[in-house]
Amino acid sequence: MILITGANGRPGSATVREFARQGTPVRALVRGPEKAEGLRGLPGVDVVYGDMLWPETLKSALAGVDRVLMISGAGPLMLETQCTFIDAAISAGVGHIVKFSGKDSVDGFDNEKFRSSRSHEQIQRYLFAAGTPWTVLQPSQFMHVYFEEVPDIVGSGELRLPLGDTTLAPVDIDDIAKVAYAVLTTPGHEGKIYPMTGPEALTMAEAAQHISEAIGKPVRYRDVSSEEKQQDWLKAGYPPPRASAFAQLFEERRKLGHSTVDLSTHRRFDIEPTTFAQFTRRYADIFRGDTQYGVTPV
Ligand SMILES: NC(=O)c1ccc[n+]([C@@H]2O[C@H](COP(=O)([O-])OP(=O)(O)OC[C@H]3O[C@@H](n4cnc5c(N)ncnc54)[C@H](OP(=O)(O)O)[C@@H]3O)[C@@H](O)[C@H]2O)c1
Repeated sequence: MILITGANGRPGSATVREFARQGTPVRALVRGPEKAEGLRGLPGVDVVYGDMLWPETLKSALAGVDRVLMISGAGPLMLETQCTFIDAAISAGVGHIVKFSGKDSVDGFDNEKFRSSRSHEQIQRYLFAAGTPWTVLQPSQFMHVYFEEVPDIVGSGELRLPLGDTTLAPVDIDDIAKVAYAVLTTPGHEGKIYPMTGPEALTMAEAAQHISEAIGKPVRYRDVSSEEKQQDWLKAGYPPPRASAFAQLFEERRKLGHSTVDLSTHRRFDIEPTTFAQFTRRYADIFRGDTQYGVTPV
């Protein structure tokens, strides 16, 4: 049996949907019944409950599991959550752990400088030392993060980001889900690290142009200071540590300036990379503010 954790989150739910589309049974871990809403009724999906930080809650979720896709949120508890989960999975006899990690597309990015990228490095080292077969997925920024800009796009026709002319190479979560599916269902991925970006390094002016074309309304990129954007994030309800961590991350991206596209994993798995234009067209209703992003049926 294959288990996916973080199954109600963005990459987790996309991977569960990929299993459902392919007709392959899968077990989906969420923290409680209220988190299972978007997963109910998906064919072949067995929703189970448990908390990755509390091994005693994971016994039935991990029973009979051979392979796991390990995902949890990027917050301050990620290191403890995933190291605790690795121990629980190995004790339960799981034979292959696929860690959902991350890798910034900007050239020269130092993972040790930021808590979440540093935590991914620490978890990877913990996993590599644990002695159980592993694979690591390292996607760049998700295209889905641009949904967080919808209130400004709808309200003022602006994509407000503190990035100057920096390019980013965001990747579609559905492309990552296809890779995760292949890694979990075919042999030959043990000890491999799979980095992924999207197919273009885009300035934010180009990203705004794609959104504008998809929704049929003008959207301009406004280059704001990281202090201004931090205020936007606080007003939008981000907890202060998250707003401040994002501001630092964006300052670093702005300073480094240029992203490199890496399609080696798309090619390895024969996946056509989704362009930002295709992504914005697919989700034009969300970028127009007509629909909220949520888990969609197969
Ligand atoms: N955002 C990006 O652009 C990006 C790019 C590359 C990689 N990543 C990585 O992708 C991963 C997922 O990030 P995301 O922003 O997409 O998060 P997300 O959508 O919030 O997904 C995180 C999931 O983990 C679950 N979770 C967290 N703690 C848990 C626990 N103790 N027990 C059980 N489930 C738990 C959450 O469940 P609840 O709903 O119950 O909290 C949620 O389903 C992170 O490791 C992040 O670093 C993100």
